[in-house]
Amino acid sequence: MTSPRTTLSLVDTDPAELAVDAIVIGVHSQTTEPGSGAPAHALLLATGGESIAAAFDGKLTETLALLGATGGPGEVIKLATLGTVTAPLVVAVGLGPEPSGAAPAPESLRRAAGAAVRALAGAPRVALALPLPDDADAPAALRAVAEGALLGGYRFAGYKTKPQPARREPVGEVLVAVPDAADATAQAEIARAQAVAGAVRTSRDWVNTAPNELRPPAFADVVSAAAREAGLEVEVLDEAALAAGGYGGILAVGQGSEAPPRLVKLTYTPDGGGGNGKRVALVGKGITFDTGGISIKPAQGMWEMKSDMAGAAAVGAAMLAVAALKPSVTVTGYLPMAENMPSGTSYRPGDVISMFNGKKVEVLNTDAEGRMVLADAMARACADGADYLFETSTLTGGQVIALGKRIAGVMGTPELCERVRVAGDATGEPAWPMPLPDDVRKGMESDVADISQVNAGMDRAGHMLQGGVFLREFVTDDVAWAHIDIAGPGYHSGEATGYWTKGGTGVPVRTLVHLVEDVAANG
Ligand code: BES
Ligand code: MN
Ligand code: ZN
Repeated sequence: MTSPRTTLSLVDTDPAELAVDAIVIGVHSQTTEPGSGAPAHALLLATGGESIAAAFDGKLTETLALLGATGGPGEVIKLATLGTVTAPLVVAVGLGPEPSGAAPAPESLRRAAGAAVRALAGAPRVALALPLPDDADAPAALRAVAEGALLGGYRFAGYKTKPQPARREPVGEVLVAVPDAADATAQAEIARAQAVAGAVRTSRDWVNTAPNELRPPAFADVVSAAAREAGLEVEVLDEAALAAGGYGGILAVGQGSEAPPRLVKLTYTPDGGGGNGKRVALVGKGITFDTGGISIKPAQGMWEMKSDMAGAAAVGAAMLAVAALKPSVTVTGYLPMAENMPSGTSYRPGDVISMFNGKKVEVLNTDAEGRMVLADAMARACADGADYLFETSTLTGGQVIALGKRIAGVMGTPELCERVRVAGDATGEPAWPMPLPDDVRKGMESDVADISQVNAGMDRAGHMLQGGVFLREFVTDDVAWAHIDIAGPGYHSGEATGYWTKGGTGVPVRTLVHLVEDVAANG
C-alpha cells in the first residue's frame, strides 16, 4: 500500500508572479507593550513575503488580521488574491513570535510548511515563500521546509471503496522559493529531503497498514522487496533458520501465531568497501500486532498495537534512505518480526527461554515481548561485529508516562545516548537520556534463570528502565549502544498537527539517518 507522493523543487523567481494555485507566506505574532497605544496583538510579515505584501499595497497583514490571523504556530489563514498577484490564493502560516536570530528555528519552519501543505490538500501546485536565513543556517532551514512540506503532504491511501469528497488529494507539487535555485548546496538539501522524507513516508505506510495485511511473512516480503530495489543486500531468516540459529526469543514470541516469525537483515556497504571502517547496526522492534499474548491486553485501544512494528518500520525505511544517501560507513539493519498472539501454542509466563547469546530468560509476562525479539537481534548484531548499535522500539507504556507522546526515552552507553539526544534535537525528533539503575537490575533476578524478563514482583514503577536494563544483557561490552523507546512518539492518535498526520509518525527515521551520517563523518 503506497500513499500518493508529493514532488518538490526550487524556484528563484518573484513569488508574486508564480503561476501556482497558492502561495504560502509566513507571519509572526507580536505582543506589544501594554499601554503603548498599539493593539495588544499585531501581525508581522515574515521575510520571503515582501513582494506579496507590496502587491497588496501594504494592506496584507491588516487584511489577514481581519480574517483572524494571529501568527500563532500552526495557524493557517487563506486569502483570495483577486488578481493582486498571479496565484489566486495567499496562505499565511503562523510562525509564532518573531525569532531572535535571522530566521525561525528549523522545527518551527518544518511544522509551518507541514501545516500549510496539509491545509492546501486539493491544490495541485503550491509555492512556499517562507523565511530562510542567508547564512550558515540556510541548509538546515531549507531542509526543514522541504521535509515539512513532503511530510505534511502525506496521506495514507487507506482502504475506502468509494471516493470521499471530503478527502481531497494531497498537494501534487511544491515549489520552494530560495534566493538561487541553481545553488548546489540548496539542490543537495532538496535531494536529501526527498530521500529522507520518502523514507519517513514509507515507514508511515507500513505502520498504517492493517495488521491482517502485514503479518511477519508479509512484512518481511515488502521490506525485502523495497530494500532489494534500493540496492541493499537482503537476508531473511524464516522459522526454520531461526530455530537452527538458536533465536529462542524471536521464536517464543512468534510461536503463538499461525503466521511464523522472521528476522530480516539488510546491509549497506559503501562503494569500494568499508568506508571509514566503522560498522553501525540499527535494530527495530517488529511486532506486527501485540495482543499481549497469554498476558492479554484490555480491548480498549488494542487496535493501536498494529503500530508495534514502528521500530522495524523506521529501521527498514532508514536503510532505504541510507542506500540513497550513500554515507561512507557500513550499516546493517536488523528487523525481528513476530505476531504476539494468545493460542494453544503461545509461550507462557513461567517459560524459560534460551536466547541467541545463550542466556536463559524467565518469562513473567508475555506482554513484555518486544525485549524478547530485540534481545536476539541485538545479540546477533554484536556477533556480526557492530561498533555502534542503535535500537528502537515501541517498548513500554512507561515511556509515555515518563516523557509523553513526543519525546523518546534513550538508555545505553552515555556517550551514545548524548549523540542520540543531539541528533533528535537537530531533526525535530526529541529524545531524552534516562538511567539504567543497578537496583532495577537487582529487581530482575530470577529464581531459576539468568534474568527475569520484567521485575520479579511485577512492579511497574519506572518500567521503561527495566526494558533498557534487560536489553543491556544482550549487548557485548565492546559495543556502544543506545535503546530508543518510541512507545509515545511512534504513533499519533490525535488530529493531524504540523507535519504529523494521524497514525504512524515515521519517528525516529530522521534521527537514525542523522546518526549514520554522524558516524560516517566523525567515526
Ligand atoms: N507494545 C507495548 C508497549 C506500548 C504501550 C507501546 C503503549 C505503545 C503504546 C509493549 O509490548 C508492552 O506491552 N509493554 C508492557 C510492558 C510490561 C508488561 C512490563 C507495558 O508497557 O505495559
Ligand atoms: Mn506487549
Ligand atoms: Zn509490544
